[in-house]
Amino acid sequence: MNFDLINLGGLESKRLNELETQLNLISTSTINLDHDSLVFQEDSLYFNFKKERALTPLKIDIQKGALGWRLARPQHETHIKKAIGKTERPLRILDATAGLLGDSMIMLALGHSVTAYEQSKILYTMLDNELNHLAETDSNLLNLKLINSNVCEANFNDKSFDVIYFDPMYPEDKASSARRSDLKKINSILEIEGLASDPESTFTYLRNIPSTKLIVKRPLKADAFKGSINYQITGKSVRFDIYLN
Ligand SMILES: C[S@@+](CC[C@H](N)C(=O)[O-])C[C@H]1O[C@@H](n2cnc3c(N)ncnc32)[C@H](O)[C@@H]1O
Repeated sequence: MNFDLINLGGLESKRLNELETQLNLISTSTINLDHDSLVFQEDSLYFNFKKERALTPLKIDIQKGALGWRLARPQHETHIKKAIGKTERPLRILDATAGLLGDSMIMLALGHSVTAYEQSKILYTMLDNELNHLAETDSNLLNLKLINSNVCEANFNDKSFDVIYFDPMYPEDKASSARRSDLKKINSILEIEGLASDPESTFTYLRNIPSTKLIVKRPLKADAFKGSINYQITGKSVRFDIYLN
């Protein structure tokens, strides 16, 4: 892989050995600022971008910051709640584009169960590490399955899910400023891994899964994907385009 695995903790550990095997990398103990690196320190992981990218490190900290605040108040999530729709029972949701897992965590906090796909091995490894830390204290995580794969490689049938949620990559200039910085980092990680983003073909694949509802998250001013939208839920900076089967 085109990045370094750095162990800043000093000692060898079982977790470090697992990471080396999972990523097929041998760890070293010093960060080279001219390289991209995944840094393991005190059981946590963060991604340090090489100097020329001029990006601050990416750390996934689900319970802190803006996401932590939102997770403590899931009933305030009016737009995503409307997009999912009123329901008497918890729904089975496929999050086709896990990213930093924010939307999945909100849907879990609303009482649903989520299967989330993330194509990036780096993001998956960081998420998996963070989820292992939270597993003992957050019972919602019992309803989460995180899978490291391109969602288009999976086989689903009409009984697999009630709702499909799709939040594709889009040009950074159309994103709100808080989101822009995360998107830049995700984009760089996808570039490091040589993963192309192909939202149109993923949309077509998802649209053909028999399911009751496909929810597509878009920046407010972005064009919609091809096909007729049944209705839209509009927020301040994003909208949800809903396609029904
Ligand atoms: C805009 S981000 C999603 C952000 C996410 N909703 C959140 O709350 O953090 C899009 C993510 O979807 C992933 N992705 C895009 N296409 C994918 C596919 N076909 N299969 C799996 N993951 C995909 C990208 O690697 C990226 O991490």
